[in-house]
Amino acid sequence: MNVKAALLSALAGAGEGYISGSALAEQLSVSRNAVWKAVKALEGEGYTIESVTAKGYRLSGDNNRLSAELITQALHTEKLGRPLFVHDEIGSTNAAAKELAGQGAVHGTTVVADRQTAGRGRMGRSFESPSGTGIYMSIILRPEFGIEQAPMMTSAAACAVAVAVEKLSGSKTQIKWVNDVYMDGRKICGILTEASFGLEAKSLDYAVIGIGINVRSVKSALDTQLQTVATSIEDACGKKLDRSRLCGEILSQLERYLATIENGGFLEDYRSRELLTGNRITANLGTRPIEGEAVGIDDSANLIVRLDSGEEIHLSSGEASLCRIKK
Ligand code: BTN
Repeated sequence: MNVKAALLSALAGAGEGYISGSALAEQLSVSRNAVWKAVKALEGEGYTIESVTAKGYRLSGDNNRLSAELITQALHTEKLGRPLFVHDEIGSTNAAAKELAGQGAVHGTTVVADRQTAGRGRMGRSFESPSGTGIYMSIILRPEFGIEQAPMMTSAAACAVAVAVEKLSGSKTQIKWVNDVYMDGRKICGILTEASFGLEAKSLDYAVIGIGINVRSVKSALDTQLQTVATSIEDACGKKLDRSRLCGEILSQLERYLATIENGGFLEDYRSRELLTGNRITANLGTRPIEGEAVGIDDSANLIVRLDSGEEIHLSSGEASLCRIKK
């Protein structure tokens, strides 16, 4: 490991604590001048490092750099995020992950980018992915469970994002079926899952879960029309989260939830945050528009809609919109 990488790892490992220049020099077996030079080099790469006389150095809590070293430091996983590819700019992390999966990349391989030039959303839409504000990441999964449980992965991912954001921000999130995460009534995260099926169409070859989150203020980055429905974590709760830490936390939560898919263990956390439940909604059943009351989430993470006729429909995919919120 070179001095810069070793310094970054030492600073990240110290969390909010300061480490003196002499302690760092000793730990890294280099001169204090070499430590200082490495600090300047990291600052040049966009890391925010605080330096306080008589205390030393620490990574600022305000750090906004997405990097493989910092994400890895925040990972508590066995498989997810291993290996991890972090890009400053990419077309689409989902496209890159699919290509890697096609070449045999292992379960857990993760692609992260600071900016996407061709970010993909659901229903063929594009996904705004400006630099310095969001997390755009795609995880390759090669699950052992059957094809029927595959859609639950997306719901588990929404849950992982919701819980990770709550843990680091201290503010509440909601999940809008099927896989949008909301804060303060507006969307902060969208998820696009793309799957490749085996030849017999009964087995899942791999799935790529693509997660896009607006972390830092996007007021100037997103167009005004989008701002009425979308927001960022910072705009919603005032906290400037460290994108690398959040990325690591999401992967850690996702690994935990994926282990509970077969027994539906994540559903309680999903249901307690789901925001359509208890409200009148519109949706599409195939090409047929429907309206009714969302009465809950079933054990396969489908949305249960009670039509005015009393018939209950379990929606497995698509999009649903609120008609009005019950007081
Ligand atoms: C949606 O809300 O429509 C889903 C958006 C999914 C965006 C993410 S960003 C990372 C990954 N790469 C993509 O091209 N799309 C997904």
